[in-house]
Amino acid sequence: MQKVKQTIGCIGTGNMGGAFLAGLVESGTVSATQVLASDRDRDKLRELEKRLGIRTTRDNRRVAEEADVLLLAVKPQILDRVLAEIRGRPGEDTLVISIAAGFPTSLIENLLGGKPAVVRAMPNIAAQVRKAATAICAGRWTSRSQVKLARRLLESCGLVVEIEEELMDAVTGLSGTGPMYVFIIIEALADAGVRMGLSRPVATQLATQTVLGAAHMVQQ
Ligand SMILES: NC(=O)c1ccc[n+]([C@@H]2O[C@H](COP(=O)([O-])OP(=O)(O)OC[C@H]3O[C@@H](n4cnc5c(N)ncnc54)[C@H](OP(=O)(O)O)[C@@H]3O)[C@@H](O)[C@H]2O)c1
Repeated sequence: MQKVKQTIGCIGTGNMGGAFLAGLVESGTVSATQVLASDRDRDKLRELEKRLGIRTTRDNRRVAEEADVLLLAVKPQILDRVLAEIRGRPGEDTLVISIAAGFPTSLIENLLGGKPAVVRAMPNIAAQVRKAATAICAGRWTSRSQVKLARRLLESCGLVVEIEEELMDAVTGLSGTGPMYVFIIIEALADAGVRMGLSRPVATQLATQTVLGAAHMVQQ
């Protein structure tokens, strides 16, 4: 498949931002040099520079100005501050993708000003192994081709479905936080195995493969 040509900006390179940048580069969806990421944490930026070869800065405004696609991956309680900081910086055609939980497209549009193209996404932590389940919805001024581009980019980390925004909270409860429930199930299965005499490594291996196998069966 052809590489995406746009410059990708990312503000926030923690668990999720870092995972998506790795997915984008390691899947070959974009070249490392097309990516410019910012974070307030220098260590995270240095680590990503070294691991992926992407460009980094501590200047969120620069990222917003340079990006054709801007991924917002800071915590929801910080997002309004970041949006105020970059207000008016993204270009007219910039696609803004936010993965912040509980942060509506209308609020992002208002805080950015103008008529920004916004896609709201709810992925999950399995983006770190490129097996995320992600739901997306479009804002008021987002074209179909921009939604398609968002889907293409997010698919570098797993499955993507499109839904109505009013269902985003349901997705957050189901797949957004879903991996945590499955971790607990795996741990409970392994604990039961250990109580029956299995070693911890073998019990964990069996529990994990059981969940993986069952999931594959459901998928088929
Ligand atoms: N984690 C999940 O399972 C999950 C699932 C679905 C959606 N999400 C969404 O993904 C988003 C990111 O979550 P996360 O788990 O990746 O959080 P995270 O690991 O805390 O990453 C956020 C990063 O943003 C940095 N940051 C804070 N303020 C900043 C600023 N003003 N400018 C630039 N960078 C700044 C943080 O630095 P410091 O560490 O120094 O604060 C941190 O490196 C959230 O909105 C969350 O709702 C998360």
